[in-house]
Amino acid sequence: MPTSEDYLNLAAGCVREAGAIALSMQNHLHAIRYKGAKDLVTEADMRCDQLIRERILAAFPDHNLRTEELGDKAQGSRYTWHVDPIDGTINYSRQLPLWGVSVGLAEGDSMVAGAIYLPASDELFTAIRGQGAFCNGQPIRVSPVSDLSQAIISHGDFNVGADEAARKSLNEANFFARMKTVSSVQRVKCLGSAVVEGAYVAGGRMEGYCMVILNSWDVAVTSLLVAEAGGRVTGLKGEPWDLTRRNALFSNGLLHGELLASLTWDADHPYSPE
Ligand code: IPD
Ligand code: CA
Ligand code: CA
Repeated sequence: MPTSEDYLNLAAGCVREAGAIALSMQNHLHAIRYKGAKDLVTEADMRCDQLIRERILAAFPDHNLRTEELGDKAQGSRYTWHVDPIDGTINYSRQLPLWGVSVGLAEGDSMVAGAIYLPASDELFTAIRGQGAFCNGQPIRVSPVSDLSQAIISHGDFNVGADEAARKSLNEANFFARMKTVSSVQRVKCLGSAVVEGAYVAGGRMEGYCMVILNSWDVAVTSLLVAEAGGRVTGLKGEPWDLTRRNALFSNGLLHGELLASLTWDADHPYSPE
């Protein structure tokens, strides 16, 4: 019977291997194509997705897969791997360093273990449910900052959404959330990679990260990392979070309530989170 450590070792091996390959390709990309009006995919995304699927299926042939580029493989298992082969593809395609690889395993909707690798800084973030969070083998904790005016928070990118109407609505929600928060905190950022921003919240480098729209592969490992590092994860209205949710606030816990309140949409505003 595999243990949680076995699952973590597989996840960590996958993110390291895929991250090294993607890093080696970053300055020589040939095939960058648009998969949506504002959304790119590179040959490295495809190669890493394929590689990670092969590694997982070789170890656990009957597990379900949910990978961003090659889609879902449902096999009726209670275990599902959530894989983002390159998170922050736009940054990656412009030779920016803020991107990463994320592989995690869920049992039902609850994360068991996962790893995020940030190749540019050679940082491997890992977590197993109930056993804490780590960066390169050292325990990590969320930030101790409890004064909102000293907080750094980050937000997901603008212009994500399947079509123009969705992008417009989400842009307004995203813009409105930033406007509501900005005067209360120290800095509002957008680093362009959910796994980087999530790992940074878990590692105490920022106090919060807000996403008005997400897919499970973007944040599966982040949700476990932040919780295991002592932080908090909820929906944007404070609802309990699980992998089926489409928005989230990740925080150091101490500021969660204040951040939720400062992100709260006006009741009569037309753009409110799902
Ligand atoms: C995107 C990035 C981005 C976030 C988007 C994600 P991708 O992932 O994490 O920062 O705002 O919501 O879709 O497409 O680069 O894997
Ligand atoms: Ca991706
Ligand atoms: Ca992503």
